[in-house]
Amino acid sequence: MTREAPVLTNLDDEGVLLITLNRPDKKNAFDDPQWDGLRDALNDAREDPRVAVVVLTGAGRDFSSGQDLNAFGGAVEPRKDGHPNGFAACVDAVYAFDKPLLAAVKGVAVGGGCTLAVACDVVYVGESVRMRLPFANLGLVPELASSYTLQAAIGRQRAAELFFTAEWIDPERAVDMGMAARAYPDDALLEATTAKAREIAQWPVSALRGIKQTLTLAHQAGIDAARKAEDDGMAKLAGSPENVEAVTAFIQRRAPDFKQFRK
Ligand code: COA
Repeated sequence: MTREAPVLTNLDDEGVLLITLNRPDKKNAFDDPQWDGLRDALNDAREDPRVAVVVLTGAGRDFSSGQDLNAFGGAVEPRKDGHPNGFAACVDAVYAFDKPLLAAVKGVAVGGGCTLAVACDVVYVGESVRMRLPFANLGLVPELASSYTLQAAIGRQRAAELFFTAEWIDPERAVDMGMAARAYPDDALLEATTAKAREIAQWPVSALRGIKQTLTLAHQAGIDAARKAEDDGMAKLAGSPENVEAVTAFIQRRAPDFKQFRK
């Protein structure tokens, strides 16, 4: 059976491009085709003069459950673009995207699904949203520059608590902490986000680009340093016994046993 396109795009007459992660039966978990689809959609949108604003969302009930854990750490064919994997190529595109990037996030937003939302300029959440930064419990470090961007958004105390505990975050808390701008009922979320995107899209793209550039300026060095440190940390910890135990436990649908490594 041929797979449906992993990422869908739809451009309206107002200059709002909707990008939909499209793997709903896996909660829009990111395998390489989905990372590549998002990378291409963002790179195309950056160059397309008709696009003023992008809204990123997920098909079905969820935003995204992050990196596909079944594909995690498996043998990978060398990629022609020089990146080690689809994730790395897509992160470049996310941080190179220079127009307003809005996210409409409902259901599960975990791992890359959560850090991708944190990388967006404005996040709107639905009442079903459950966000989580599952790096400690996977034996890993944060990614997508979230070790910087989350602290910048909500402060060191709250970010440290969320990263260390890997606890779930509900919509009220997400808005209260500043991980999201507003919460809406699920059935109103996309319409409300699109309306906000159209409000933004009425202004000159040159001004929107300029505003994003000035907003990003103070954060650029932190983002770049975080990406480098996170890549180094991932290279050390991905495939470690603790990480393998965590991924195996997920696949086997059981709780991980980390105590075995403390003897
Ligand atoms: N990678 C691969 N498959 C995933 C996935 C992921 N990150 N997240 C969900 N899926 C798959 C499940 O394996 C399941 O597939 P199946 O129907 O073929 O068995 C399907 O999506 C539905 O997920 P399920 O786990 O049954 O839903 P749930 O509501 O019980 O739990 C989560 C949802 C998000 C709590 C759970 O799927 C989860 O913890 N996923 C891993 C998230 C994660 O750690 N991501 C970060 C990776 S760095």
